[in-house]
Amino acid sequence: MPTEQPRSLYVHVPFCAHRCGYCDFVTTSRSPELHERYVAALARELEFQGGPPPGGFDTVFVGGGTPTLLEPGPMESLLRWTGSVAAPGAEVTIECNPETVDAALAARLVAGGVSRVSLGAQSFSAPVLATLERRADPETVRRAVGTLRDGGIERLSLDLIWGVPGQTPADVAADLAAALELGPDHLSAYELEFKPGTRLAHRHGTDVDVAVGEASDDLYDLVVDTLEAAGWWWYETANFARTAQERCRHNLAYWTAASWLGVGVGAVGTRPGEGPGSLLRRANLPNVPRWLAAVEAGELPPARIEQVEPDVARSERVMLALRLDEDLVVETRDVLDGIVDPGGLERLVDLDLGTVETVADADGVSRGAVRVRLNRRGRMLGGSVGTLLLDP
Ligand SMILES: C[S@@+](CC[C@H](N)C(=O)[O-])C[C@H]1O[C@@H](n2cnc3c(N)ncnc32)[C@H](O)[C@@H]1O
Ligand code: SF4
Repeated sequence: MPTEQPRSLYVHVPFCAHRCGYCDFVTTSRSPELHERYVAALARELEFQGGPPPGGFDTVFVGGGTPTLLEPGPMESLLRWTGSVAAPGAEVTIECNPETVDAALAARLVAGGVSRVSLGAQSFSAPVLATLERRADPETVRRAVGTLRDGGIERLSLDLIWGVPGQTPADVAADLAAALELGPDHLSAYELEFKPGTRLAHRHGTDVDVAVGEASDDLYDLVVDTLEAAGWWWYETANFARTAQERCRHNLAYWTAASWLGVGVGAVGTRPGEGPGSLLRRANLPNVPRWLAAVEAGELPPARIEQVEPDVARSERVMLALRLDEDLVVETRDVLDGIVDPGGLERLVDLDLGTVETVADADGVSRGAVRVRLNRRGRMLGGSVGTLLLDP
């Protein structure tokens, strides 16, 4: 058995009132009578996966779907359980849809130990929300923020989406201004992805530039410029924090390639594998009846299990590290083992995407490692820079 137990837990709650036209997450509009059974099964699945680590999880993230669609009883059961598996002082986040927020919900979340809410605002423009087929109008989003704050939610994050068909740069600027005016602690600003199979992709195709008609680089620039000018830290590709403490600790665990457990239908988790440096990735299948039937029968739910070999895990770590506003240290062995392409490091500098410096010890002696720091353009290109660095 691997010795290092994951210290982060992701909990997937798949229920949604309807499916938004752009979303391909694992969701279901099944009826509320399933809620209590679903929540009970989450706790059982965690036990089958080895239970919490000693002292409890440092971070718990309840995502969806729409977790706040749970009926009051199942919601209280869920929070009693997350409270029982979280360490004292843990970051416990729940995703909320604005139209589900009222004072009773806010009180339930606070009493249940939720320390952070991620609210799916998406936009403050009625036409943009309509294009996205959201259920909340801009006033509902604003009211939800007030209700959560009044109810005692201390850490509040807002999700925004940019690159929506018909959305102009002025609309994006207005969304950012509206979001900042509400005084959140954290902002996620996602470029809209045109996911195959969604109604959005059916209507507009999957080519972002054709669908949106605005160069997406320009909108991304606008987002980063505006938030940095307002004093926010662009600490990850799509994530901005008011202060370092407000970064999402749970998501930082993903981006620093720590291991985590995932429970619930469709949930993914990664833990140390059998051999040194390898990982075991478990992705529960996205089928609610099968997930429920297995767990209620006392078994682990059906899942795709992938053994990630050490070299692949190292490459994934490089890709993830490039998302963060941190230096990437490439060790000599990363080059010798063919993980990082030395030619890629040169191209990165030639293309003016960042700097590569030798790492010296305190006494000035080089260890052969290099420190890669992406500049703004490099950070915006993100995954393409990773592809450039990784040995082909
Ligand atoms: C899957 S949702 C779950 C939370 C909640 N149900 C909601 O809608 O806000 C989490 C976030 O993913 C983002 N998201 C979902 N589909 C997306 C897409 N196709 N492109 C970009 N962001 C997307 C949305 O911003 C959303 O806030
Ligand atoms: S975006 Fe959120 S509310 Fe809409 S279908 Fe996806 S998970 Fe559900």
